[in-house]
Amino acid sequence: MASLSPLPSPDFDLSPEALVAARPWLKRHAMDGLLLEDVPLNAIADALGTPTYVYSAGTIRTRLAALTKALAGLNCQIHFAVKANDHQAVLRLMQQGGAGADVVSGGELLRARRAGILPRHIVFSGVGKTVDEIRLALSQGIYQLNVESAEELETISAIAASMGQTADIVLRINPDVDAGTHAKITTGKADNKFGIPYDDAAALYAHAATLPGIRPQGLALHIGSQILNMAPYRAAFARAAELIRHLRASGQTVTRMDCGGGIGILYADAPEASPEAFAGAIRQAFGGMDLSLATEPGRWLVGPAGVLLSSVILTKAEGRFTVLDAAMNDLVRPAMYDAFHAIVPVGPNNGGELSPTDLVGPVCETGDTFARARPMPRLAPGARVAILEAGAYGAVMGSTYNSRTLPAIAMVDGGHWATIRARQSIEAIWAGETVPDFLG
Ligand code: LLP
Repeated sequence: MASLSPLPSPDFDLSPEALVAARPWLKRHAMDGLLLEDVPLNAIADALGTPTYVYSAGTIRTRLAALTKALAGLNCQIHFAVKANDHQAVLRLMQQGGAGADVVSGGELLRARRAGILPRHIVFSGVGKTVDEIRLALSQGIYQLNVESAEELETISAIAASMGQTADIVLRINPDVDAGTHAKITTGKADNKFGIPYDDAAALYAHAATLPGIRPQGLALHIGSQILNMAPYRAAFARAAELIRHLRASGQTVTRMDCGGGIGILYADAPEASPEAFAGAIRQAFGGMDLSLATEPGRWLVGPAGVLLSSVILTKAEGRFTVLDAAMNDLVRPAMYDAFHAIVPVGPNNGGELSPTDLVGPVCETGDTFARARPMPRLAPGARVAILEAGAYGAVMGSTYNSRTLPAIAMVDGGHWATIRARQSIEAIWAGETVPDFLG
């Protein structure tokens, strides 16, 4: 099973200076140490403590603008995959940059609305929408529901009809294409739980057109996440285009194609997927087909824009292990997918010779390891590090395992910064818990 992202090649330069140099949103200041945009990360850690997530508003804006530009002329909407980072400040940046939202729960839908994203810019994906969530989506009047099964189609039809509404839907097809990414986030293979089998889709589409309360508008697909190579996209898009031609030839109306997300970013030495290449794959398959196109990227827009700040608690075994105050409950990707995250000292005063150390968290699991044998300067207790590319699938996947409170979050913008989530209190962790009377 491939890891996500795979370890860099052995000759890859893992020195903190090389890692910073490859990321234009980071700078090293001689006196202040590491900066995100123009804000010293030490200033944020001094004020809020650690572990703390920090997001760069400027980087999110720049990336959304770059993807928007690459898609220009394609009649292609961007629906940000809220699951990657659901903070309302991030959603507000998306809204201001002209993006809508791809949501997978009633909670995400309500968050997107709170952040100012209009219902007509919201699509609802997911393999198990509840009756309440479908009702919520229909009562809000969202743009479309991406239907993942024949069973769900019947449920939506019944609910919409009972509400006297017509639901705009697209069928999410499973194109049976291997995205070449980590097995746990591959979604477009026939044996994954997602979507409608390709061979069943035409008949189901024709059936949908006969159902009360349903207006089939087109197709959707999403083949996986952290995809760096365009070949799987091209293969999946070609299959979808073929199906659209077949549907139209058989008299169906097809106006929309949702191309999914999954565009990969730089974690180690593999360069990120270019928005132009992604747009090119869309153009090649669907250009000239007179479709309203959409895409639902999450990671590409926000992953690079976030860091997780952490402090060294202690080093042990002569520096073999560096124990941080961040743990797998704060950022689970290394434990869950063997994901590689670059880690750099915040500084300013920890130059010096690099020697390999395992950067681990305090949680009582061996999997609570952020990096193995990573070249680092000797880090004294209290020294700070930044774990990079933590803006996507970071805070959103956090838990309070080991009764660890959820970290604070800050956002920087140019030279400004603000706290956008206070560190959770221990009381908030157990609020809502009760000990039943019968226990005395
Ligand atoms: N659309 C659908 C239907 C999805 O299921 C996903 C992600 C996306 C869009 C956005 O994919 P993105 O552009 O962010 O790759 N927790 C994992 C990633 C899980 C992705 C799940 N679906 C990780 O940390 O790598």
